[in-house]
Amino acid sequence: MYVNPALYLFTWAQNVDGVYIGMDLDFGSKVYWDPSSAITSHVFVVGPSGSGKSVALSTLSYRMVRKFKSKITVFDVKTEYYHLFKVNGMNLNVFNPLKTPLPLCFCEDNRTEFEQKVNEFLNVFSKVYGISTTMYRTLYECVKYVCGKCESIEHLYDTIENLEALNDIAKIFEIYPTKDSDPMKSILNANTIIELKDVFLKSSTLSSFVIYYVVDSILRNCGLSFSGIPQRIIVVDELWHAAPHIMDGLTQILTRYSRGCGISFFMATQSIDDVGMHVDAVTNSSAVLLAMASQSHGYWNRMARYLNLSRRGIYRAAKLSGQGECVARVYPYENPVFIYIDPLEN
Ligand SMILES: Nc1ncnc2c1ncn2[C@@H]1O[C@H](COP(=O)(O)OP(=O)(O)OP(=O)(O)O)[C@@H](O)[C@H]1O
Ligand SMILES: [Mg+2]
Repeated sequence: MYVNPALYLFTWAQNVDGVYIGMDLDFGSKVYWDPSSAITSHVFVVGPSGSGKSVALSTLSYRMVRKFKSKITVFDVKTEYYHLFKVNGMNLNVFNPLKTPLPLCFCEDNRTEFEQKVNEFLNVFSKVYGISTTMYRTLYECVKYVCGKCESIEHLYDTIENLEALNDIAKIFEIYPTKDSDPMKSILNANTIIELKDVFLKSSTLSSFVIYYVVDSILRNCGLSFSGIPQRIIVVDELWHAAPHIMDGLTQILTRYSRGCGISFFMATQSIDDVGMHVDAVTNSSAVLLAMASQSHGYWNRMARYLNLSRRGIYRAAKLSGQGECVARVYPYENPVFIYIDPLEN
């Protein structure tokens, strides 16, 4: 205390009830984040390839799940998260929509039920694939027909020609006979990794569709029970691939609906500009913003405004080089902290 009073004050000023983020590289103290005190509880990680974004997302989301018993849904484009969580002793279910298709509807649905499902499906479909109103109406009638008659999904593209997107959809949706085997139940109720590597390799629009469709289902089933503590963590890594297709809708969800449902998004991408014109909305709604190490001055100049980094801070940040080292802006503190995210420390 006598030698360095700042160290003493900073360490004890932290809310130790929060989630441990990382070790302060200046003072050696632990930096915590208390999501219950924040207006929003999203986490946004930016950084070059190999800088430690995925390790940061899995480490922080694991700590949230352990501390708050939140449910977690992970969208995994690189098939890496199962092992990242397993290191912490957490086994997540793995769901691959190419192996187990999502239910478009169930043969036993009554008219109201399948009409509602058709609307929900087409709402997401039109947002991601951007179809015209006329096509929307045609599709509505066709999807309603296949659901009502319990037809095979292939019937859709027999009826509507020249809609490439339907070939995509037929790969990941099916009409299920009964609700007993509804795979959405386990996605909604258990900690799940949605494996998207193969889907992404076929089409990045299709994997964006899966992300948006599942997030939409989570929102619809959330039961609107906000308690200040995130009840569900949704991890979206490699956001760059989905951003061009779903960022408009996702930003609305981030800023408007997620808090009411107790949902926290943990997102990562290489460049802050991957989210395009939504950059202010995404950074403002993120309680934790992490910029992983990079030696590029251009990168830090771009990040400075969102991290409140001074000229000297930029110069210093460009000297960070280790994996897991980053500059963090953690709500409610305005000033950036230089931290190391230690995945092994709990
Ligand atoms: N906090 C850390 N401490 C020590 N090593 C780390 C840390 N974070 C990452 N690493 C090492 O760096 C490697 C790359 O990390 P990670 O996959 O998280 O990077 P990334 O930024 O997600 O890369 P990409 O953009 O290619 O997905 C890891 O396999 C691990 O070996
Ligand atoms: Mg990664």
